[in-house]
Amino acid sequence: MSHALDALSDHRDALNDVSLAALCDAPGRRDRFVHSLDGMTVDLSRHLATEETLGLLVALARERDVERLRDAMFAGEPVNTTEHRAALHVALRNQSDRPMLVDGVDVMPGVRDVLRRMQAFCAALHGGDWRGATGERITDVVNIGIGGSDLGPRMATEALRPWWTSGIRAHFVSNVDPSHLADTVASLDPARTLFIVASKTFGTQETLANAHAARSWIVDALGGDAVERHFVAVSTDAGRVAAFGIDTANMFEFWDWVGGRYSMWSAIGLSIAAAIGFDRFLDMLEGAHGMDAHFREAAPEQNVPMLLGLLDCWYRNCWGCQSRAVLPYDQHLSMLPAYLQQLEMESNGKRTRLDGTPTSKGTSMVVWGAPGTNGQHSFHQMLHQGTTLVPCDFLVAASSCEPSPDARGDMLIANCLAQAEALARGRSLEEVIEDGTPPELAPHKVMPGNRPSTTILYPRLDPKRLGALIAMYEHRVFTQGAVWGIDSFDQWGVELGKVLAGEILPGLTGEGPVSGDAVSRGLAAEVAAMRES
Ligand code: F6P
Repeated sequence: MSHALDALSDHRDALNDVSLAALCDAPGRRDRFVHSLDGMTVDLSRHLATEETLGLLVALARERDVERLRDAMFAGEPVNTTEHRAALHVALRNQSDRPMLVDGVDVMPGVRDVLRRMQAFCAALHGGDWRGATGERITDVVNIGIGGSDLGPRMATEALRPWWTSGIRAHFVSNVDPSHLADTVASLDPARTLFIVASKTFGTQETLANAHAARSWIVDALGGDAVERHFVAVSTDAGRVAAFGIDTANMFEFWDWVGGRYSMWSAIGLSIAAAIGFDRFLDMLEGAHGMDAHFREAAPEQNVPMLLGLLDCWYRNCWGCQSRAVLPYDQHLSMLPAYLQQLEMESNGKRTRLDGTPTSKGTSMVVWGAPGTNGQHSFHQMLHQGTTLVPCDFLVAASSCEPSPDARGDMLIANCLAQAEALARGRSLEEVIEDGTPPELAPHKVMPGNRPSTTILYPRLDPKRLGALIAMYEHRVFTQGAVWGIDSFDQWGVELGKVLAGEILPGLTGEGPVSGDAVSRGLAAEVAAMRES
């Protein structure tokens, strides 16, 4: 029972005939709906929201205690209640002298110690002091990990490709499909390749299987003694790292209070630091720290991540939206939708509240998207004229990282602004007819408009900006979860599939009986038949 949500639902009914175009044109709209954050503009004017909506959303945040829950997260309280853990990723980028406590113990000395070890490792790698077993310099680093141990570093290294000045190329292997490792190492020289085995638990089947296969690739080429110069590990579990055969002197630690999908700021980001250099990795942490300070200190009315999260709840719970599109008009952010899928859907794709009761309202939207302008030539048709309302995030830089002598950079921005405008304004039947469209064609050209979006504009993508951007999304997701009263930091829903895969596997390898339900057993039998034919 939520008075604030009930009030929002009534208010939404009152907005049935609202015109987003008229809202956008209203005087003073920019003053209230456009936010400036350390040079980045977050424009909320194209939302189906009035001043009153914002007031009601802030009331929702107050009713759901979002500020107190935020403070609890920053205070290292066990906000991940089902796993009895803190979720203190903000400590990883804490650049202040403020202690960050978990169970009354300041975690900052440990955080700084690992950062120093990462710095020394990067210096050795870049300076040529860390060499392969045959004395060659390392030129290629392959991160083997999956989920949070892959998507964050992969997204960030791709985003920061113009800063790859260390002489190290970063590669990522996540899929247990043997093709992923094979394709990745096909062009690599074992003597110059270093593997980072990244796994919080060091128990993830896919990662360990790929790590074993990578070790065979190194051993076959360079011999068993080469492993120590070609493998390092990032994990919370030193015992399992040692059991795998990686010297724990070459292990970078992190902690169980860092959720996998919140871990790119920890040593899980080693591949990022290897590619862009440690100082720039620190810049990324600094950008995130700035956003943390904003989220922690700004009043809800001005708190950008909080407002974004509240607007998500508005669309999900009062407009029935099932999905949100993330549309970076920035090629380097091409991995952002995939990264946000884990961040948002693994965090808030839940149906049980903290007190164990079922939710009565919808939770996580499906997050999807692709870089603009590519999406315009595939799925934007549905965004403009489909029967489903899909709020969009547009992200665009004022200046591309790649200066061009022609107008392509401006074309990119023009298209980004035009898409958001077209979604909001649409095109009425009268306008279509006025253009001289034949009557039988006119209905097909009508665009309903009133389709909301956020535009996030930044001067240029750099490590600090990326850090701020990702931290903004993290806190947005936190706000959603706090409103919905769910644990944003667990992921029990992924467990059953892992158990069943473990049961089905022996039947495929021939080491045990064929198991699973009738459908799985039938398909496994077909696999066997296809392999024999
Ligand atoms: O199966 C889901 C998950 O646990 C994610 O939450 C996590 O990011 C990923 O697997 C990888 O886990 P690990 O880092 O322990 O290998």
